[in-house]
Amino acid sequence: MFNTKGMENKVFDKHIFVCTNERVGGERKSCGDQHGLNLVAALKKQIKDKNLPQNIRAQKSGCLGICDFGPTVAVYPEGIFYVNVHLSDVEEIVESHIVNNTPVDRLLLKHKKDV
Ligand code: FES
Repeated sequence: MFNTKGMENKVFDKHIFVCTNERVGGERKSCGDQHGLNLVAALKKQIKDKNLPQNIRAQKSGCLGICDFGPTVAVYPEGIFYVNVHLSDVEEIVESHIVNNTPVDRLLLKHKKDV
């Protein structure tokens, strides 16, 4: 079994995944149909504007499995999931979580009772 203790093999200090999945013609909500790609661009811009190190990366991802609460953003290595993320939340996520290691509580998945 893979052991992550010590994370000796990690590449990124923070790896941010933004769901950009699109369901063409689907009845279920999908993050890419909302503003997933704009969130990726906004996160990348914040990282660049704040001159954060290259071991902090934001990128698009496929479905993260909690579509009803999207747009969804996941941050690793913590495995923190943010839901219903708006462009106006990006600066706070970067400043609070990525720079200061304090997740943005109000956006956490844990506040959704059905999960
Ligand atoms: S479509 Fe974004 S989490 Fe599934």
